Amino acid sequence: MIRASAPGKLILFGDHAVVYGEPGIATAINKRAYSTACELDGKKIVVESKDTGETTECGIREKSKNPIIAAVQEAQKFSKSRSGIGIEINSQIPIGAGLGSSAAVATATIASVATLLTGKEPSTMEIAEMAYKADKLAHESPSGIDTAVTSLGGTIFFKKGNISQLDSEPLTLVVANSGVRRNTSDMVLRVKNSIRDPRVALSMFSIGSLSKEARTILLGKRQGDLGPLMDRGQSLLKDLGVSSTSLEDLVQLAKDSGAVGSKITGAGGGGCIISLSDNPETLIQAFKESGASAYSVRTNQPGVRID
Ligand code: PMV
Repeated sequence: MIRASAPGKLILFGDHAVVYGEPGIATAINKRAYSTACELDGKKIVVESKDTGETTECGIREKSKNPIIAAVQEAQKFSKSRSGIGIEINSQIPIGAGLGSSAAVATATIASVATLLTGKEPSTMEIAEMAYKADKLAHESPSGIDTAVTSLGGTIFFKKGNISQLDSEPLTLVVANSGVRRNTSDMVLRVKNSIRDPRVALSMFSIGSLSKEARTILLGKRQGDLGPLMDRGQSLLKDLGVSSTSLEDLVQLAKDSGAVGSKITGAGGGGCIISLSDNPETLIQAFKESGASAYSVRTNQPGVRID
C-alpha cells in the first residue's frame, strides 16, 4: 500500500488568461489531498472517497471522464502494468471551490499508483505530465497550471509549455468561500464563447501583464505590494464575465474590512476569493459574521510527495 499527497492551490494571477497562452502565477497551499493505492485482484479500478462517501468502479481499460480513474489509468500506462487498483481518497481541500481539489487528488493518485506499480517514485515532472494528460480527459481545454503547481509545489510562473519556480517567501492569504459550487469546464467554455470580442482579448493580455508585474514583486520579496494588483486582476476577471453578485459582495466586504487586495481564485462563477490583509484574523471574523466560511492559508508549500 502506498500513500501520497499533493497540495491544493491558489491562482494568484492569470486565471483564464493562461488558457490562451498568457502567463499566470499559482502557489501551493497548506491544505492537502491524500491518495492511498493498493493492488486488487481482477481487472478493475475502485475509488473510494472518504470525503463524499462515494465509491466508483470501472474496468481498467474502460474510457472514463472521472478525473481519478483517468489518473489511475495514466499511472498504469506509465508503469506498463494493468493490475487492478484500489484507491482511497481523503482530502482537506473543498470541492468545486477553485482551490485545486481535483488536480491535487489526481496528482496524489498518480504518485501513489505509479510508485506502487514501479517500486520507485516518479519525478515531479513525470507526475505533472501524467496529471496534465489525465486532466485533459476530464476538463475543457485545461491550461495545465493546476496540475503543474500541485505537482511541483512552491510558487510557479506558468506560461503554456514553460514553467519556472519563483524564489518567493510564503504569504498568508484569507480564503472566503461563496458557498456556490461551480464547474471549471462550464466557466472556461463561457469565456471561450466570447474570446472573439476584442475587449475580451484585451482583458486577457492585461491579465498576462499583471502576472509579469507580480513576478517582479514576488522576486523582490515585496509581497505586501501585491494588493493593488489583486484588485486590478479582479476588475479584469469581472470584465471577462466570471464574477458574480455573491463574489462581488465578498470582495466589497473584504475591502470594507481593511483588505489591501482581493480577487477570485480559479474559474469563478462561484467558489472562493482570496484577500491580502495586514489583519487576517479581523478579516476572517468579518467574513464569518456575514455567514461566509473563511480561513487563512499559507502559500509556497511543498508539492506532491510520498507520505
Ligand atoms: O479549476 P479552477 O477553478 O482552479 O480553474 C482553473 C483555472 C482556469 O484558468 C480557469 C482554467 C485553466 O485551465 O487554467
